[in-house]
Amino acid sequence: MQSENPEEMLDNMQPFLDMMMNYECALMEIETKLKVLNSEFALQHNRNPFESIKSRLKKPISIIGKLRKKGLDFTIENIEENLTDIAGIRVICSFPEDIYAVSDLLAKQDDITVIEVKDYIRKPKSNGYRSLHLIVEIPIFLTTGKKYMKVEVQFRTIAMDFWASLDHKLKYKKDNLKHPELIAKELKKCADTITSVDYKMQEIRNMLE
Ligand code: GTP
Ligand code: MG
Repeated sequence: MQSENPEEMLDNMQPFLDMMMNYECALMEIETKLKVLNSEFALQHNRNPFESIKSRLKKPISIIGKLRKKGLDFTIENIEENLTDIAGIRVICSFPEDIYAVSDLLAKQDDITVIEVKDYIRKPKSNGYRSLHLIVEIPIFLTTGKKYMKVEVQFRTIAMDFWASLDHKLKYKKDNLKHPELIAKELKKCADTITSVDYKMQEIRNMLE
């Protein structure tokens, strides 16, 4: 059954598409800032502080799911006020020290407001997950004026990222596994090993510099 004509459907979608475009702009702003920091840091220290940056916009179906979980209707206001991870950037660094160096430099910039910091490196989650999460707000400049957008920035080492991607698989497959707790225990062991390797590698690097 079709309740609307296509033109009407597109009209109704426009505010959502505009909002997603705003988040996309915010991603571009943060990504540029990070790339500038990377280049300048590289000049000063003769190496790049990070390996890669990946950014993504949350999929509409995931936005619907998250709002539903929070008991909220699908409106632009609810999304902008209650969801902080529509725009997400993941910065993969080689060493833990670089994570703090780069995130501090980003947080200090005067057009950026840090809304929240979750330091799962100093305080890892019980499953072993480690990363530094920042929710920041950044202005974007539109024809209609200035608008503040939230972006989630995750900082991880290569090792933390490797671990998190395997853990992510566990999350999705948990219900179909015979011994999920056994796998979780093994993963936790890997997390501990990886932590010690991260810091050993950093120690060695510091000795080399
Ligand atoms: P979400 O509802 O999942 O966004 O969690 P949250 O609002 O409590 O925020 P948190 O900062 O804890 O997590 C945000 C994001 O970090 C997640 O969407 C994942 O990308 C990542 N993350 C957090 N915990 C884990 C974890 O245990 N394993 C993996 N693989 N990723 C995680
Ligand atoms: Mg999330």
